[in-house]
This record gives sequence, structure tokens and C-alpha cells, in this order.
Amino acid sequence: MKKAFITGITGQDGSYLAELLLEKGYKVYGFVRRVALEDEQHRMSRILHVLDDIELIPGSMESYPSIYKAVSSIRPDEIYHLAAQSFVSYSFQDEFSTLQSNISGTHYLLSAVNDIVPDSRFYFAATSEMFGKVREVPQNEDSHFHPRSVYGISKVAGFDLTRNYREAYDIFACSGILYNHESPRRGYEFVTRKITSHVAMIKLGIKEKLELGNLDAKRDWGHAKDYVDAMWRMLQQEQPDDYVICSGETHSVREFCEKAFNVAGLDYRDYVITSEKFFRPAEVDILLGDHSKAEEMLGWKPTVSFDELINEMVENDLKYYNGKK
Ligand code: GDD
Repeated sequence: MKKAFITGITGQDGSYLAELLLEKGYKVYGFVRRVALEDEQHRMSRILHVLDDIELIPGSMESYPSIYKAVSSIRPDEIYHLAAQSFVSYSFQDEFSTLQSNISGTHYLLSAVNDIVPDSRFYFAATSEMFGKVREVPQNEDSHFHPRSVYGISKVAGFDLTRNYREAYDIFACSGILYNHESPRRGYEFVTRKITSHVAMIKLGIKEKLELGNLDAKRDWGHAKDYVDAMWRMLQQEQPDDYVICSGETHSVREFCEKAFNVAGLDYRDYVITSEKFFRPAEVDILLGDHSKAEEMLGWKPTVSFDELINEMVENDLKYYNGKK
């Protein structure tokens, strides 16, 4: 039985990936902070349904010894490194801890893998935020990086570390350059879930308005479930490589609002207000990816459309908040 080790297993992607790997017959191990174990209902909400089927190892991405111990005890065949401070806005408020945990955490894990299980396969969660102030549209694996936040900078460093472990030590290390990916399990701080949860609360009379920042930013949004499948496919190839994973469409935040409110029979213009406090000091104006390489090499392409994604998220939030009333 193959063993997979997932950091960030309690997050949106970690939870979908754990399900996928269990379906494929893997023994799944997750790396979690000790506090998560003490607050199961809240911090483990996305993986409660698979808790009996997986094994959780307490530790911290900031502690090399805890990472070393986990990798030594599991000796995984595949490692999926998803853990990160992944909220771009927050990285402006706490640059130092974002850099520290995202870069060192990735470095610690790569170093432990190289020492203990050099023949295993390693996946790094890179991001389209690395392209930042884009020079070309659409972007592909060869596009220039110009990150616009400390979060983006930390991911460029993680991407470079991953490539360097591949080139210097021959580790089977891949980076997935994933564009925005959402689902009903998305955290409430990200714009899509903030919008769909507010649509539901407004529809049900729990809230009156939705305060947002830049409505003109454009993103390439896909479904997280599709994207974790791409992660797995990368580690099944003959050679390690880096891949852009995206929907191949770009839409503005305004368009997302319009469609999400429409699902509930509402007009976003009646409810959405903008506030300076949600604008970023430096914005990524447009992201649009080209997934030709993933399609050709991995046989991967997205299966959920923009409209289907929005419908699923709004319907889920309507059900959730209806149950809370
Ligand atoms: N979060 C948030 N809240 N974003 C807002 C708001 C708001 O109230 N109003 C407008 N936006 C705009 C942001 O300025 C940004 O342009 C866009 O909505 C998307 O913001 P997020 O949903 O926070 O995601 P992100 O694009 O910054 O980053 C996400 O995608 C990356 C991949 O491209 C995260 O998942 C990152 O971790 C990931 O790497």
C-alpha cells in the first residue's frame, strides 16, 4: 500500500486530496498542529468524515525536528506539501511570519525528504500569484515571475527550492502552479466564499450588505476538486516537472458577484459596497493561465465550469445558513 503524507490536510485542498488518495487505496498521513487535535470540531471540520481512515501526526512547519520525526516515522512514498500562510491580504499585515513559515517550512521538508526518503515523490503547492504583475496573458510555465506580495515572494522561493532539490539532489520534486481554486470548502476570507456566504445571508435576511475591495481584479477560477487530481497526476509521471493548472478563463470579481447574486435571484448592485480597507497595497490585476502542458502531459483538464462552481457554492451556503436560522 502506497503511503502519502499531506501537510495542510485540514485545508480545502488537503481535504479533497485526502479523499482522492483514500479512494485510490493509499494510506494517508496528515501533518497537523497540535492545537488542531485539541479543537477537532472547528479546525478539522473539512476532514471529520475521513478522520477514522487517516492518521494525523502532530507537528509544525516551523519546527524542523517535528518534520524530521514525521517523515522518519512514516517514510512516505509521496509527499504533498500544501501547508502555508495562503491568504495574500494577511501577508501584507504580517510579512515576516509569512516569509518565515512559507519558505523555511518548505525548505525543512525538502531537506528532511532528501535525508530520509530521497526516492519519494514531492509535490509543492506553487501559485499563479508568482506571476503577479504579468508580462503576458495567458501565462504558462515559462512566464516571468513578478510577485506583488510577500506571499507571492515566499512561493517563488518555495518554487525555486523545489526545482533546486530536483536539479541538485535528483529528488522527484514537482511544483503545481495553481490558479485560484474554490469550492464549498473554501475559507470565508477569500473573495469567492465571502461573496457566496453573503449572498446566502442576505437572501435569508441575516445580513444587509457585502463590503468588498477591488471589483475589477480578474482571476482564473476553477474547482479545487479538479486541481487536487492534477497534483496526484504530476507525481505519477516518469519525470518530475512543473505544471500550470488553471481553468483557461478569466473573470472579474464583479462578474463573480453578479452571477452569485443572480443564483439567489438578487442584483449585486443593490447590496455590494466597496471599502478602501479591502484594497491591497499592490494588486495582481489579471490572471489567466494556459493549461496546454498539463493537458498534453498529464491528460488533465478542468471539468467544472465557472457557472457550475458559483452555483454549487451559493447553493451550499444557502443550505448551510438556512439550517442555522
Ligand atoms: N479576499 C478578498 N476580500 N479579496 C477581495 C475582496 C475582499 O473583500 N474584494 C476584492 N477582492 C479581490 C482581491 O483584491 C483579489 O484581486 C481577488 O479579489 C481575489 O482575492 P482572494 O480570493 O483573496 O484570492 P487571491 O487571488 O488573492 O489568492 C488566492 O489565489 C492564489 C492563486 O492565484 C489564494 O488562494 C492564494 O493562496 C493562491 O495562491
